Amino acid sequence: MRPRTVHLALGSNEGDRRASLERAVQRLSAVPGVEVLRVSSFRESAFVGAGPAQGAYLNGVAELRTTLPLPALLAVCKAIEAEAGRRLPAPKNHPRPLDLDIVLAEGETFDGVDLVVPHPRWHLRPFVVEPLRELGVDVEGAPRTERPLLVDTPGAIAALASAWTANGCVVGLVPTMGSLHEGHASLMRIARSECDRVIATIFVNPLQFGPREDFAAYPRDLGGDMRLCAAAGVDAVFAPPVAAMYDERFCSRVAVGAAAEGMEGAVRPEHFSGVATVVARLFAITRPHRAYFGEKDAQQLAVIRRMTHDLGFPIRVVPCPIVREPDGLAMSSRNVYLGADDRRASTILFRALSSAQHAFARGERDRDGLLARARAVLASEPRALLDYLELRREGDLEPLPPGPIAGGRMLVAARFERGVRPVRLLDNMALVEES
Ligand code: PAJ
Repeated sequence: MRPRTVHLALGSNEGDRRASLERAVQRLSAVPGVEVLRVSSFRESAFVGAGPAQGAYLNGVAELRTTLPLPALLAVCKAIEAEAGRRLPAPKNHPRPLDLDIVLAEGETFDGVDLVVPHPRWHLRPFVVEPLRELGVDVEGAPRTERPLLVDTPGAIAALASAWTANGCVVGLVPTMGSLHEGHASLMRIARSECDRVIATIFVNPLQFGPREDFAAYPRDLGGDMRLCAAAGVDAVFAPPVAAMYDERFCSRVAVGAAAEGMEGAVRPEHFSGVATVVARLFAITRPHRAYFGEKDAQQLAVIRRMTHDLGFPIRVVPCPIVREPDGLAMSSRNVYLGADDRRASTILFRALSSAQHAFARGERDRDGLLARARAVLASEPRALLDYLELRREGDLEPLPPGPIAGGRMLVAARFERGVRPVRLLDNMALVEES
């Protein structure tokens, strides 16, 4: 590889700190393919961050010229850290005799499981910025790794995702239509805990809205959405314009059969074909290892599981639990349109489902008996105009025959039409032995 300049941050807060840093520099200069050009002065800074109370750090930056590929340089750094007595894998935020981080590499980026260059937080750390400045680096102009990255073309997100996969990352996808709330954030956090890289998509998909539905009026707030994605640890947000997803000659659709019949499918005829089409397209563009969907939209989840299996996408579909407001209303982007009275009335869905769940937990097993209980609760709220109430088999949501059931999922949809604009609310709950 051609030689290029790389900046390494050095730190120590355990043992003889200065000796550790000096020895690290010596060890680095002894590595074939590495030349240490300059080393900044060392400076002390108090430990900041979570973790046990610990002593101050001594930090500096070394400027190298190296022909080593960045992953090989990382391996060298790890070996020198281990030699200095650092336990590997190192517990996070614990005192350490030596810490070596690749901060910047001239004209180069790397984005893999345990190495990201430029270091994502270098510019936030005075104990890195000041030594870099001392070495004459233009710290204002130096490259940064932005997180989350905002990407708006299929080609760019495809390239990013395939580079992550090539660098050994498990990639998670969280498809959304934006106007994000805690429900979406919970999907992102679950993805964050299970994947090395998380892509959230924000795309109000025209294909899944009927002609009289609220496509134009669907709430949109990219600035707020980016802040929520950043706080949830998302690495990239894919927010394409409609024309980038569907060019003017786009004419293919994913047709979905039985899973899309009844319930939402009966009320919104083309809806699930539109959902399956956009999700298939997002899967094809980003090719994630895992994709996260909320149980909030239980029939959508069943349709997507079916579609993923039928079309053979090698992607694990991960169901995520419903996030609710403190009074039980399932969070939804459309809740903002409920007037104050409808908002108060909207908890009826949760109360109806909970009454069926309590009855089930107390031993009621008859399908129609359970439905009747929930229906009676719903009938007590005249503002809720019921579209459907069903008890289906857990998972694939196949209909259950009348008579005793061993479990299942109760699903409800109702309209509230007296607020800012008419709102349809969906909710569902698994009926289980213990709640
Ligand atoms: P959207 O309504 O934005 O929801 C995106 C994801 O967040 C879905 O998987 C949904 O089930 C989940 N979600 C929404 N509210 C939730 C809550 N209160 N608790 C847990 N999860 C919740 O669903 C769609 O967008 C679209 O149909 C999409 C799949 C993106 C295709 O366009």
